[in-house]
Amino acid sequence: MKLSIIGSGYVGLVTGTCLAEAGHTVICVDNNQAKVKELQAGRIPIYEPGLEELIRRNVQLKRLSFTVSTKEAVEKSEVIFIAVPTPPQEDGSVDLSYVEHVAREIAEVLPEYRIIVDKSTVPVKTGEHVTETIRRYCRKGVEFDVVSNPEFLREGSAVADLQKPDRIVIGVASDRPVAAMKAIYEPFKAPIMITNLNSAELIKHAANSFLALKITYINLVAAVCEASQADVTQVAEGMGSDARIGRAFLNAGLGYGGSCFPKDVSAFIRIAEELGVDFGLMREVEKINASIPERFLKKLRSSLWVMRDKKVGQLGLAFKANTDDVRSSVAIELAKRMAAEGAILRCHDPKGGEKARELLPAGVEIVSDAHQVAEGADVLIVATEWPEYRLLDWHKIKNSMRTPRIFDGRNLLNPAEMKSLGFEYTSVGR
Ligand code: UDX
Ligand code: UDX
Repeated sequence: MKLSIIGSGYVGLVTGTCLAEAGHTVICVDNNQAKVKELQAGRIPIYEPGLEELIRRNVQLKRLSFTVSTKEAVEKSEVIFIAVPTPPQEDGSVDLSYVEHVAREIAEVLPEYRIIVDKSTVPVKTGEHVTETIRRYCRKGVEFDVVSNPEFLREGSAVADLQKPDRIVIGVASDRPVAAMKAIYEPFKAPIMITNLNSAELIKHAANSFLALKITYINLVAAVCEASQADVTQVAEGMGSDARIGRAFLNAGLGYGGSCFPKDVSAFIRIAEELGVDFGLMREVEKINASIPERFLKKLRSSLWVMRDKKVGQLGLAFKANTDDVRSSVAIELAKRMAAEGAILRCHDPKGGEKARELLPAGVEIVSDAHQVAEGADVLIVATEWPEYRLLDWHKIKNSMRTPRIFDGRNLLNPAEMKSLGFEYTSVGR
């Protein structure tokens, strides 16, 4: 099929590429001219495992192309996906101006029947507004359908998540777009759920909020473990092997971050409120999650006593492993707070260093070899769970530190091993 995606960021670019890989012809649109030029020249603006190779292959096969022109994309495609940002506003509600703007742009150039699919995460009832907007701005008599098709990919495993989804949710207001939507996803051989428009939008907010709740729950359990000499990884294992609970998203750490969970939780609270439902449960989750970095810093302060002038080496800046994304990263938040308290910071991240530079205070050093962060350091912080950090030369690290202390915010390292190497080792809930 002939498809286009408007917005070529973490979601749009991966979605467009995987749809091309599935055999469709896909045009990726972005209003950022520089980004489109880069993509046309074969340079990929984000790091996502497996993505570069897929882009290259599909561009070569002429199934994937890039443009700034929404008009060209709308004219040439049967189905147009919207994947522009839906950032949070001051009050936690969603800024829908990009979605509205793109809906108008599409409407103004709509030549004949098209399916417009919202992939951005939006509050329930957005599809209704998009339908109304397109109706107002399109030529009289042109028919179209608006579909909600939320995306559940995780950064760092986006390509795999997209190619092997647990389910595909398609929310529609009529039967007309169903066959085409099913045809798009047929190559993925995944269960397809057809729902109404509002349910599809709600599924995304409800799912992300539930996962955020699950993480927050285990972080509180971790606090109880710390106070009772229990081990949160064993507790998570034991809870998680109950099929009704499941082990996924029960990793205690520094709290959830990233460009989705924090904003989706506040957006869900806000839209529920607008609809007359007080979602106090999720407000509590937000509050607890916000307090987790401070709990970690408190433990750190009790070991360092005074933070000022202490040399801190930090491993990890990205909001999670396998991505260069540093948006709303708890690792960045930690670094900023320690720097504000006078610590001398040296940080490393395998992929996120460059993007982190713009967010960190000028005095924070970013180095390219992970071992360097330990040199002369009073403490080493693990802030992102990059698996390759497990393979560092920990013996060398121990010998290069001023005082061999590790604060592992992600429970990445083996406590017994670290202790036997001579480190004073502290992690979360164990
Ligand atoms: C997405 C979503 O679509 C959001 O709703 C979801 O909650 C998180 O993921 P993401 O792909 O992470 O956003 O955003 P980003 O990487 O910032 O990419 C968005 C792209 O859209 C950018 O390249 C931007 O230049 C482009 N854009 C933005 C447009 O092409 N048109 C616009 O009007 C606005
Ligand atoms: C999330 C959803 O998982 C995905 O379905 C949706 O499409 C977008 O939002 P993403 O933000 O890319 O994906 O990453 P995810 O792996 O969900 O992690 C989110 C945050 O939770 C990260 O800060 C991560 O470190 C944290 N996390 C995750 C934990 O602290 N513990 C866990 O057990 C899992």
